[in-house]
Amino acid sequence: MAATPPEPALRGFVRTVEKRDGSVLRLHQYGSGGVGCVVWDAALVLAKYLETPGFSGDGARPLSRRSVLELGAGTGAVGLMAATLGANVVLTDLEELQDLLKMNIDVNKHLVTGSVQAKVLKWGEEVAEFAPDYILMADCIYYEESLEPLLKTLKDLAGPETCIICCYEQRTMGKNPEIEKKYFELLQLDFDLEKIPLQKHDEEYRSEDIHILHIQRKKM
Ligand SMILES: C[S@@+](CC[C@H](N)C(=O)[O-])C[C@H]1O[C@@H](n2cnc3c(N)ncnc32)[C@H](O)[C@@H]1O
Repeated sequence: MAATPPEPALRGFVRTVEKRDGSVLRLHQYGSGGVGCVVWDAALVLAKYLETPGFSGDGARPLSRRSVLELGAGTGAVGLMAATLGANVVLTDLEELQDLLKMNIDVNKHLVTGSVQAKVLKWGEEVAEFAPDYILMADCIYYEESLEPLLKTLKDLAGPETCIICCYEQRTMGKNPEIEKKYFELLQLDFDLEKIPLQKHDEEYRSEDIHILHIQRKKM
């Protein structure tokens, strides 16, 4: 295995995620800043799901050489995991998350077997014509104003064969249930949803209130 490179001076604290092969992803987080500056539980659940036999099948490597785009990547945990599994990944988030994403790419580049880059993508804005094989999103359904822009971006990016994998934590406080309900109502106008049963999630990184969905454009 390649030696671990020296890390930049810490500006926050580091979250580690051990992979099934024993190597370790290191994710810098900022102690203060927006919601994207820390690794959320849904990101851990989704990142570890990508390694499971339930997703990969028997020894298959479904992400190898496939194009993957992560929306609302935050620290980049999910997309970086995909890049270590051979995918060609674009981590996207708002402008203010780009330095953190680039730092985490740099710190983990020795584990990447595909490729990975960071780009600005604000939901609802025009995206270049591009239909990735997979779109990954963890904990991106949490405020009302973003629902329609996020759906527009999914519709712009997802081709008929694109598999969207969405992981979210079901929250019971405040407006969260209402926001989730509205999001899934709107989503199901154009997309079919398949819920992945809990027993197919990673044995350790799973929780009753964190759900994984495979989402695909409705067939005409
Ligand atoms: C709750 S955080 C989740 C971060 C990461 N996926 C995780 O689970 O650790 C939501 C992410 O969505 C991003 N986000 C929020 N609104 C956005 C928008 N309009 N366009 C693009 N990204 C947005 C935030 O910057 C943040 O990184």
